[in-house]
Amino acid sequence: MTAKELKPNSNIFAVGAIDWDRRLFDELIPLPDGTTYNSYLVKGKDKVALLDTVDPTKTQVLLDNLKELKIDRIDYVIAHHAEQDHSGSIPAVLAAYQMAKVVTNVKCKELLKEHLLVPEEKFITINDRETLSLGDKTLEFILAPWVHWPETMFTYLKEDKILFTCDFLGSHLATSDLFAVDECRVYSSNKRYYAEIMMPFRTSIRQHLEKIKTLDIKIIATSHGPIFDKPDMILDAYKDWSSEEVRNEVVLPYVSMHGSTAEMVKYFTDALMKRGITVKPFNLSRVDIGELAMALVDAATVVIGSPTVLVGPHPLAVYAAYLANALRPKTRFVSIVGSYGWGSKMVETLSGLISNLKVEVLPPVVVKGYPKPEDFAALDSLADQILKKHQQSGVVK
Ligand code: FEO
Repeated sequence: MTAKELKPNSNIFAVGAIDWDRRLFDELIPLPDGTTYNSYLVKGKDKVALLDTVDPTKTQVLLDNLKELKIDRIDYVIAHHAEQDHSGSIPAVLAAYQMAKVVTNVKCKELLKEHLLVPEEKFITINDRETLSLGDKTLEFILAPWVHWPETMFTYLKEDKILFTCDFLGSHLATSDLFAVDECRVYSSNKRYYAEIMMPFRTSIRQHLEKIKTLDIKIIATSHGPIFDKPDMILDAYKDWSSEEVRNEVVLPYVSMHGSTAEMVKYFTDALMKRGITVKPFNLSRVDIGELAMALVDAATVVIGSPTVLVGPHPLAVYAAYLANALRPKTRFVSIVGSYGWGSKMVETLSGLISNLKVEVLPPVVVKGYPKPEDFAALDSLADQILKKHQQSGVVK
C-alpha cells in the first residue's frame, strides 16, 4: 500500500496496511474479505501525530509508508486501543522515531505496558475531552470504553472535523478504496463486523452515539475497512442495529445426525414461512459463524435444533448456544426443537447455556426417534405461538 492523503492539502494521510489474505481473526472470526489495519498520520505546523499503528505482521508496510512520505519525526503516537492489530507496531515505531511519546488514557497505558512492554516514561496520559495541539491542528480525545475493550477511545480532529474511531464503526474488508464507495458491500461487511465484535456492547454503543452527536463530523476514519465521507450511512446503521427494535424473523441454527432433527427443521421452516415469518436456517455442520452472527442482529426469535448425543445436545448446538449467549443479541424469544433415541437432557443443558439472553423461553418440541404426525402438530403449535408473540410484542406491524 502507498500512503494516501485523506483530502487534498489536508496533511492527513492514511498510512496503514491492507491484509488481503487474512482469513481468521482471534483464531475465531472468519474474514471472508480480509481486513485492513488503518493508521493515520496527521502533520501539524508544529507537531506530527500517528493515530494507531498496524498489526505486527504489517509493521514494515507502515514504516515504508512513513518513509515514502519522508517522515523523519513523529512526536505523538495516539493509541486508541491496546489490541495488537492496532498497537502491535508501536514498539517498532518508537524504535524508529525515538522522540515519539505514546498518548493514551490510563487504562490503555496499563494494557500497553503489560502486553507490549512499552516503558512508563514513553507515555503521556490524557483524560476525556482533553486536547492536544499540533500547531494548526487540534486533537480532542473522547473516552469511549467497551467498543471493543474497556480502554477504547476516539480522537476528534477539530479543524478538519474528522472523528477517528478505531474498531468502532469499522469493518473487516480488504479493499483498495479508501472511502466507502461500494455502499452495499461496505454495509454488509460493517454489519458482519458489528455482529461478531460490537453486538455484546449495545448499551455502550448507544451511549457513544449520543456522545458524538454534538460533534460536527465530515469524515469518520475507522481503523478497519473503508472510511466514511458520508457519516450518516454508518451512524444510521449503528443506530438501527443497536436499538431495541427486532424483526419478524426466526434464526434457526441446527444440526442433525440421522435425519430426524433435519426433518423437523424442514417442516418447521415451512410452518413459519406459511405464517409470514422470515426464517433463516443455518446447518451448523457447514455454517459460516459470521453469517449466523449477522442473522442474530435483528431476529425476534432464535430456535436451536439438535439431536441428542450422549444424553446432551450435539456439540455444534452447544457452540451455537454459547456463541449467541456471548454475543447477547436483542432476541426476545427462544425455543428448542430436536430428537433423542432413548433419553435426553438436551433442553436443560441448552437452556443453561443462554443465561445472558433476556428472553422468554417457549415450550420446546423434542421427539423420540423420527417425527410422527403429533410431533409435526406440535411444531405447528410452536409456530403459532411464535407468531402470536411477535404480534403481541409489536414485531409484526
Ligand atoms: Fe481491531 Fe479490537 O481490535
